[in-house]
Amino acid sequence: MARAKIVYSCSECGHDQPKWAGRCPGCGAWGTLEETVREPAAPANPRFAGYAGYAGSAGEAGVIALKDVKAEEVARLSTTLGELDRVLGGGLVPGSAILIGGDPGIGKSTLLLQAMAKLSAGQRLLYVTGEESVQQIGLRGRRLSVDCGQVPVLAETSLDRMISAIESQRPEVAVIDSIQTVYTELLNSAPGSVSQVRECAARLVRLAKAQQITVFLVGHVTKEGAIAGPRVLEHMVDTVLYFEGEAGSRFRVIRAVKNRFGAVNELGVFAMTEGGLKEVKNPSAIFLTRQIAETPGSAVCVTREGSRPLLVEVQALVDDTSLANPRRVTVGMEHNRLAMLLAVLHRHGGVPLAGQDVFVNVVGGVRLAETAGDLAVVLAVLSSLRDRPLPRDWVSFGEVGLTGEVRPVPHGEERLHEAAKHGFKRAIVPHHNAPKGGVEGMEIVRVKTLQEALSAL
Ligand code: TYD
Ligand code: MG
Repeated sequence: MARAKIVYSCSECGHDQPKWAGRCPGCGAWGTLEETVREPAAPANPRFAGYAGYAGSAGEAGVIALKDVKAEEVARLSTTLGELDRVLGGGLVPGSAILIGGDPGIGKSTLLLQAMAKLSAGQRLLYVTGEESVQQIGLRGRRLSVDCGQVPVLAETSLDRMISAIESQRPEVAVIDSIQTVYTELLNSAPGSVSQVRECAARLVRLAKAQQITVFLVGHVTKEGAIAGPRVLEHMVDTVLYFEGEAGSRFRVIRAVKNRFGAVNELGVFAMTEGGLKEVKNPSAIFLTRQIAETPGSAVCVTREGSRPLLVEVQALVDDTSLANPRRVTVGMEHNRLAMLLAVLHRHGGVPLAGQDVFVNVVGGVRLAETAGDLAVVLAVLSSLRDRPLPRDWVSFGEVGLTGEVRPVPHGEERLHEAAKHGFKRAIVPHHNAPKGGVEGMEIVRVKTLQEALSAL
């Protein structure tokens, strides 16, 4: 195999040269030359042979009609953590690379250690740690009573030694915790720099494909919310999961933002306990605060996260303002959306809010990413303004348009069933979202406009 070569290549125009310079001679941009490893053109190494695809080599020319592709369902390996399997699209796919991102201390290592502990009964594994010592991992396992005694752990940060360990151990599932600590001697830049992270991840992904290993890469999220710089890793791997949680909250949410083997925006929910992460099978129950009495300014809506409906509470507080520009503050929803809904409420509902500060909070750290929450936001605002609580067993969803119409949202029936399951008795929903047969145990109020919704109150 020809030796890999170091070149400096411009991130703007792709110009390559053997020496670093402050200014790219190709396009004239400043500070864009990055150290990169140039692989020899034809990989003579058999390690890279299977890189072309999952369905095996496609023959000499590499061209194949799609009908000839073996369309067998890939056999998936369950992690036995149902919520993790769900975000992965049904389990681990051999030869896939999964990136798990999240803030430090959120529980990435714990989650993977728990998954490894469960898998260690039947699978060959390797847990490579670059951040913690083997003792620290063992101690944490013991502290959280995770039965991880059988998990083979390697403390290593050198990419080459890591790869040779993987090649000799031949694990089916490998964890690299974290990719920011891995370095290759081919590059002079420090571990965690964009070029190191990109090069090391690319080699590990290739290894995963070639040897049909499932590789988990743990990645830290930078302050800007990207994993190791400008999303360098996201396009290389098959699946990108983010592990999130509100500060101070016990609940942790894992979300698929990219998945070549399943749906995106799928959500798995865990609770953090002294005994490690526990799955939350019924997340609707935790996102609804269990209030004692009915309080003004609270409305429940049915949103969807990935493939499942989720009941969340929207809280609003409307208060007289002392400012010339009243405040519009949102947590868990888009700020501009609130401004728009307040304008619609004013124009089409006749509710003036120009003299009021409006605060909106979505309980439990959930983000209302879809428009189905509009109606509940409007109702919560109105309830706070009038200081009149909505009945506890009411639920609503629907998009509010600029002309004051209430528009249907996808999967209306499913949302209603979820609400009925949690004991809600009355639903205010867009006209076209109400199923013909109704929903058992639930009175459905169909509305076409904001006016109708307000008069239903
Ligand atoms: P850790 O998994 O190390 O976070 P990350 O790898 O994302 O940086 O978790 C941080 C700490 O939280 C660790 O000391 C263990 C503790 N912890 C619990 O006590 N219970 C839990 O359920 C979890 C997930 C973590
Ligand atoms: Mg960690």
